[in-house]
Amino acid sequence: MLQGAEGPGVRRAMEMVVALGRIYGARRLVPVASAQVSGVSYKNLGQAGLEFLQAWAQEGARARVPAFLNPAGMDMDAWAALGIPEAFARQQEAVVQAFAHLGVQPTLTCAPYLAMPWPARGSHLAWAESSAVAFANSLAGARTNREGGPSALAAAIVGRTAAYGLHLDEHRQATVEVRVQVPLRDEADFGALGILVGQEVGQGVPAFVDLAEQVQGKASLRGERGGEEAAVDLLRTLGAAMAAAGAVALFHVWGVTPEVQDEPALGRAPRRVEVASLEGAYARLNAPAEEVDLVHIGCPHASLAEIRQVAEAVAGQRLAARLWVTTARAVREEAARRGWVAQIEAAGGHVVADTCTVVAPIQALGIRVLATNSAKTAFYAPAHCGVAVRFGNLAQCLEAARTGRWPGGRT
Ligand code: F3S
Repeated sequence: MLQGAEGPGVRRAMEMVVALGRIYGARRLVPVASAQVSGVSYKNLGQAGLEFLQAWAQEGARARVPAFLNPAGMDMDAWAALGIPEAFARQQEAVVQAFAHLGVQPTLTCAPYLAMPWPARGSHLAWAESSAVAFANSLAGARTNREGGPSALAAAIVGRTAAYGLHLDEHRQATVEVRVQVPLRDEADFGALGILVGQEVGQGVPAFVDLAEQVQGKASLRGERGGEEAAVDLLRTLGAAMAAAGAVALFHVWGVTPEVQDEPALGRAPRRVEVASLEGAYARLNAPAEEVDLVHIGCPHASLAEIRQVAEAVAGQRLAARLWVTTARAVREEAARRGWVAQIEAAGGHVVADTCTVVAPIQALGIRVLATNSAKTAFYAPAHCGVAVRFGNLAQCLEAARTGRWPGGRT
């Protein structure tokens, strides 16, 4: 491949994989089971990025393993109804088409595991979106570094990645033992915890030694929702926040995540962190804005259970602020079959596929204040989207959607 036997597009991809391997001291390549490619929104990619993809496709490069896309800058079907400018939409369509020519499926989600089987434990992947990476490593027990968009695509094209970092056993051990001395009330608290721990551990591998009871206790409180599904949603929220505020790509929860159950990673962690209060995270993530333009639920992309919660909560209401529940298209279709999309739309909200507020051009939609129950969105939106943010739990967010206001702070 490096010598160009499979054409210039494959050679370009292999050069990238090998260069990364050299930088990080890899001694071999490993086959990857799948690739998840980021850098899809035209808002971030721009014209130069689009032309780069088109040129690579023209060189004959094609993914040789299952490869799928991170969210784009808009719902590919409903962009006009959501107010996305047509000029943006046409360029975004061209980006998705270029990826299609490269053999990458337009799944357009940061949670591909919601609509397909989880990656196999121990399998090697080349995934790029940071919350998906944290999920794959921590909850599924698969192995992936936090790839960039181009390196994930290169791995898909050659079917391999360089074996360094989290592909190797020695880098999957806990480096920081975390003790949580505060009760976690809801998904917002899990996200706030993730912000604090992410800031503290940076690129490390945190191991939560006393979180299992809180995860499972919260899960069992959620009525008809499967306990396991609710626990997964809470841990997705935690992982996404740690990946945003730090660069956490793998975490362990004693008694819950697969790798510590089989082979305790604790006891060797050289550092210990104790979290006694979440106030610092709430203070950091909340601006003093009261009028809310848009409420965003679904970062990472919402599960069916989360969509159902929203549908039941807004049934019969008339919302004052815009509401976006963002999810994967396949999950949206299932939610529609179950009547939950219609329930949310009847209240004036939208179940939006293929995108999220961080990668969509929401400033062009006149959004100045965003409310969310996602610590990750709250962390990124001020800088990435130029909006003020209110951060709290689902009930607070849906109340803001109903009234258009976020009264006072949260303690
Ligand atoms: Fe996904 Fe967008 Fe959040 S890509 S993890 S919903 S910032």
